[in-house]
Amino acid sequence: MPQEQELMEKIVSLCKRRGFVYPGSEIYGGLANSWDYGPLGTELRRNIKDAWWKRFVQRRTDIVGIETAVIMNPKVWVASGHVGEGFADPLVECKNCHERFRADQIDAAAPCPSCGKKDTFTEPRMFNILMKTFLGAVEGEKSEAYLRGETAQGMFVNFKNVLDSNRVKPPFGIAQIGKAFRNEITPGNFIFRTREFEQMEIEYFIAPPKTDADWQAVFEMWRNEMYGWMRAVGIDTAQASEFEVPAEECAHYSKRTIDFMFAFPFGVKELYGLAYRTDFDLKNHTEQSGQDLSYLDPETNERYIPHCIEPTWGVDRTVLAVLLSAYANDGERTVLKLNPSLAPYKAAVFPLLRNKPELVAKAQQIYDTLRTKYAIAWDDRGNIGKRYLAQDEIGTPACITIDFDTLENETVTVRDRDTKEQKRVAISELSALIGASLEA
Ligand code: GAP
Repeated sequence: MPQEQELMEKIVSLCKRRGFVYPGSEIYGGLANSWDYGPLGTELRRNIKDAWWKRFVQRRTDIVGIETAVIMNPKVWVASGHVGEGFADPLVECKNCHERFRADQIDAAAPCPSCGKKDTFTEPRMFNILMKTFLGAVEGEKSEAYLRGETAQGMFVNFKNVLDSNRVKPPFGIAQIGKAFRNEITPGNFIFRTREFEQMEIEYFIAPPKTDADWQAVFEMWRNEMYGWMRAVGIDTAQASEFEVPAEECAHYSKRTIDFMFAFPFGVKELYGLAYRTDFDLKNHTEQSGQDLSYLDPETNERYIPHCIEPTWGVDRTVLAVLLSAYANDGERTVLKLNPSLAPYKAAVFPLLRNKPELVAKAQQIYDTLRTKYAIAWDDRGNIGKRYLAQDEIGTPACITIDFDTLENETVTVRDRDTKEQKRVAISELSALIGASLEA
């Protein structure tokens, strides 16, 4: 088995075994390309989203965050260019295996890449990747709606609300974390491409650029921010690269797009994106809704429709890139070298022996105290060596052992996940020690 495939299988298996990611609806035989996050995956995912929110919303003075509905007025998707003429992709379907392919990416005379049969393709048909749903009890054209295909439109349609209710002025951004849905033609590769996924997006509004240099400066600022983020969450930037999307392949709204790629085991693929959306969205929503989405600069008295730079991050792809970057196996142990701030547990507490009530009671006391501030694991099974290995595999940065000396001198052994070094630490210092690891 190629090394890359083996690595991917190890990650998928670790995720299932330790409760990071389970196959979706598994007891019913699963549902293709659907995944559920288990207790540890949920912690990791939340920590990633919290880190993003802190970094880009709470710690910045120029960005505000919102949460908008998944189901929006269907007119939104017409104005955004996602529905209607010109957006759907022409697809062909293999009559044998029913796999669909983009017509422009397949040789109709060649065998089907999925089942190998020849001469089985249908004529190209238009296919829209937005997921349809019906509102109300009666199905019909009038009740048709879509699950949002990107969170971005929630920011555009609330642009005026945010302007009117907040002290913001361009340059400023509106951020959102939320689910998006797409009827992907070729989902797959674990949580990399699914039909239901989560995005973290910022629409960053600027005054209409007078020269290219004006928007390029903001574009560059966000380009640097993308790398800053990758480093902050421990994504191996040596595995990251950029793909300058050729103008003819850019999304319909974009004047320039850079895809930030990551060397996943299944190939170098898009991790994040950065696009200059110009005034495409606000202008179209102004025209189609009849509402004025311009901004009046109080200082210059100039009224304009802002332009928009959009950095976008997939939550699930972040989870995968973080796991791949953190995974290590030296033959003796598997360890997830997660950034402590992302680790599901910040520390684990062990009583040296489970049959010594005085040790268990002391350990329980420490566990209860630390748990008021941090996510802490408890383990009293097997020997200490096995407990270390179990915590290494889920990325717990520190293991705290309570032994007989603890009862004498109020100190514990703290073992470091990455160096395996052990040191004696006063119980009174534990909380600060864990806190310091999260700041690093
Ligand atoms: N608002 C712009 C936008 O949606 P996109 O490149 O289509 O741009 C942004 O998506 C990010 O969302 C991608 O870089 C990726 O991280 C994530 N993403 C897109 N489609 C996905 C899918 N089917 N499954 C998982 N993540 C996906």
